[in-house]
Amino acid sequence: MMSEPEWRRLNRANWDERVAIHMAPESDYDTHLLRQGNYILHAIEERELGPVAGLRLLHLQCHFGVDTLALAQKGAQVTGLDFSAPAIAAARSLAAEIGIEAHFVQSDIYEARAALEGEFDRVFTTWGTIGWLPDIQGWAEVVASLLRVGGEVYFADMHPAALIFDDDVPGTHGMPGWFAPYFHQGEIVVDDARDYANPVARISNIRTHQFMHPVADVVQALLDAGLRLTMLHEHDTLAWKQFGCMVEAEGGLYRLPDKPWLPLSYSLKAIKP
Ligand SMILES: C[S@@+](CC[C@H](N)C(=O)[O-])C[C@H]1O[C@@H](n2cnc3c(N)ncnc32)[C@H](O)[C@@H]1O
Repeated sequence: MMSEPEWRRLNRANWDERVAIHMAPESDYDTHLLRQGNYILHAIEERELGPVAGLRLLHLQCHFGVDTLALAQKGAQVTGLDFSAPAIAAARSLAAEIGIEAHFVQSDIYEARAALEGEFDRVFTTWGTIGWLPDIQGWAEVVASLLRVGGEVYFADMHPAALIFDDDVPGTHGMPGWFAPYFHQGEIVVDDARDYANPVARISNIRTHQFMHPVADVVQALLDAGLRLTMLHEHDTLAWKQFGCMVEAEGGLYRLPDKPWLPLSYSLKAIKP
């Protein structure tokens, strides 16, 4: 039997542990609005995604299903996929508790085609996804294989140009220092006990392997997988406060305090012709 790659073992242990941390009351993941049926996605997806009612929608890297269930509340027939067993268990209980019909599958993303039946009208994957994946071409091929002809992927995430910087490393002129070069190849080994959504939590599985994917690599991977790009947007806002200097913007987003120095996130749509 092939042994599990180091990146996957470490990352899964880290994500398994974060599920309880994100379900704790101190976490920014707020299920109250979801329970009331009023949960809204970040302003970027709300503006760009378009109607999903009646569509077969697959949410890749769904975590414990908050966005998946919000998409179900918009009328989509949802399937959520994640490699973390505690995340999938929590997503199933949340769906049952709120009374939302949703299907959740535990699988590594690179095995998603074999783990899922049929094809989807939409693949949705946002905020904190491909940075955990070593092979962007493999990711694009999985996405393409899961779409029906005419189906569309919607993707939004942190812009890799902003990922060059690291707040914890002192820079000059009040700017952050360096995290990784834009064209970095291979894993970036990160040891960090903190959690982005729960300020009081400390993680014990601190080591993760993360990956830098330049925008052109992501777009080219989707094109090479046979998809046609129909939208590509860069934004001066991001779904979380990556740098201490960032301030709140509209619709659950954050931006730099003075000028839009950097693209902080980007989003795209691609269709299977
Ligand atoms: C930042 S979170 C999910 C993003 C989602 N927008 C959210 O905030 O709920 C990243 C998710 O990716 C999952 N993940 C990481 N690597 C994966 C892999 N190789 N296959 C499947 N899921 C993976 C983790 O378990 C985690 O739930």
